[in-house]
Parts: sequence; structure tokens; C-alpha cells
Amino acid sequence: MKGIVLAGGSGSRLYPVTGAVSKQLLPVYDKPMIYYPLSVLMFGGIRDILIISTPADLPQFERLLGDGSALGLRLTYAEQAQPNGLAEAFLIGADHVGDDSVALVLGDNIFHGPGFPAQLRRSIADLDGCVLFGYPVKDPGRYGVGEADDNGRLISIEEKPAVPRSNRAITGLYLYDNDVLRIARQITPSARGELEITDVNHVYLERGTATLIDLGRGFAWLDTGTHDSLLEAGQYVQVLEHRQGIRIACLEEIALDMGYIDPDSCYLLGEKLGSSRYGEYVMSVAKAAGAIG
Ligand code: G1P
Repeated sequence: MKGIVLAGGSGSRLYPVTGAVSKQLLPVYDKPMIYYPLSVLMFGGIRDILIISTPADLPQFERLLGDGSALGLRLTYAEQAQPNGLAEAFLIGADHVGDDSVALVLGDNIFHGPGFPAQLRRSIADLDGCVLFGYPVKDPGRYGVGEADDNGRLISIEEKPAVPRSNRAITGLYLYDNDVLRIARQITPSARGELEITDVNHVYLERGTATLIDLGRGFAWLDTGTHDSLLEAGQYVQVLEHRQGIRIACLEEIALDMGYIDPDSCYLLGEKLGSSRYGEYVMSVAKAAGAIG
């Protein structure tokens, strides 16, 4: 399976913070926002990842993450010239996907919960059509909203409905078989002028091959779209990290755990970040895994 992180958009709801910096590069406590969706793909075992952003912002992502080889990944980059919608990712990324299946994750979505990596790997292994992840929210009308039957089959999906049929927001993580490339070419722009991911998902719904997995209570799917929610996401990460002495979405640690890099390489990555607490953490997990240091 290939991966795509879509990190476009103007971030206008966060102005002036995003006046000169991409939203997805802003800090969520101790690391740039894009680390969180990247960690999701890594947990899914996905190593070949395309990062899509605006022409102005793309060089900054490249500066931050490079070709990914230090983390045992293959990262490539592509521009989305205009905010033409999420489904455009499959037009821009068609060559990257090739004849493979694909996971799309939005660059501003944060997922955190026990058992999530295992759930994700199961969903990828069992993929037949598309898999969406639903999360109960108190303001579903701001999102794509879905309903599933008792077997988890998606039975309705609407984009930002005025009268939501459920409280299940469709989160920004989507797994698709290769047919998504053809489907994305066939849909047309919505009233807001965008190629909607919800229209893609609707095609799978009509075929009866869309699954909605409930992330449920106790799971954290965090919003970063407003000044308050961005700060709250940072505080969530801070609280857990302080209490447990762990780091959420530490890409070096995940690369080590997944066996993409060895303890000594991990230690060196930490050393490069050495004067930060994050760097010290990377060195400590590398040492615990046997790095000589
Ligand atoms: C997009 C999707 C929506 C989804 C949301 C998740 O909304 O269109 O279906 O629920 O991402 O973050 P947008 O960010 O374009 O408003």
C-alpha cells in the first residue's frame, strides 16, 4: 500500500499564525503537526509516501523531512496548485499509487489511541473497497458524516450536512483499493468548487464496498482547525507525554520499533537533535534498544 499526506490549503482559519507558515508545520506541542499523520502511515506499515502541499509550502516540508531515508521511508513531494479538494490527491498522486492500494491522511489530523496501530494494520490487510474511520463528535455538521449498519457497512454519507443523520464524523484517514484512481477521475466539482472525498466515498457506498470503523469512546481524534483546538491538541499531547514519559508520534522511535532503522542509526538521529528534549528522548529509546551511543 502507498501513502499520501495531503497538507495543502491556506490555513485561513488560523490567520495570522499561518500567514507565512503552513498550518501542517505548526507545532503541536513538541513536534510539527505533520509528524502525527506521518506516524499513522508508518504504524500502518506504509513506507512509500507522497506529500502534497502548495507550491509555496512544499520546499519547507522537504527541508524538514528530506527523502525520508533516515527513517527508512521513501518520501516524495508534489504540488497542489489550487485548493481543488481532497480527491484531487488521487489525480496528483496517480503515478505514485501506480497499481497499488493507497492510504490518504490529511496533514492536520491527529489520531491517538491504544490499539490503533493494530486496528490499522488489520484494516489494511482486509481491505476490499474502502475503509473509513468514524468518530463521535458533538458538532458533526462541520465534517463528512456517515452511518453504518450493524456489520460496519457504510449506508449513508454526507458532506457537512445541515441536519446530520448521525454524530459520526468521517475522519481524515481513508484506505482505498486501486479503483480510487478511476473514481477520482470521474467525479465533478461540488457547489464549493472542490473534488469532494465524500463523492468518492459515495461511489464505494453504492457498490456496497465501503466500511466504516468506529474509533469510539476513549480514542482521540483531535482537531487543529482553530486557535483553541490547536492549543488543546498540544495540551493533550503534553499531558500524556509528561505523565508517562513517552512521546506521541516520535517518528524516529516508530521507525526503530517497525524495524526500519537500527538502534545505532536511531541514536545518531537523536544526537542531531541533541540540544532538545525530543532529541534526548530519541537517544534514550535508541539506547534502551541496544545502541552503543
Ligand atoms: C474534510 C472532508 C470531511 C472530513 C474532514 C476531516 O473537510 O471534506 O469529509 O470529515 O476533512 O478532517 P474539510 O477539512 O475540507 O472541511
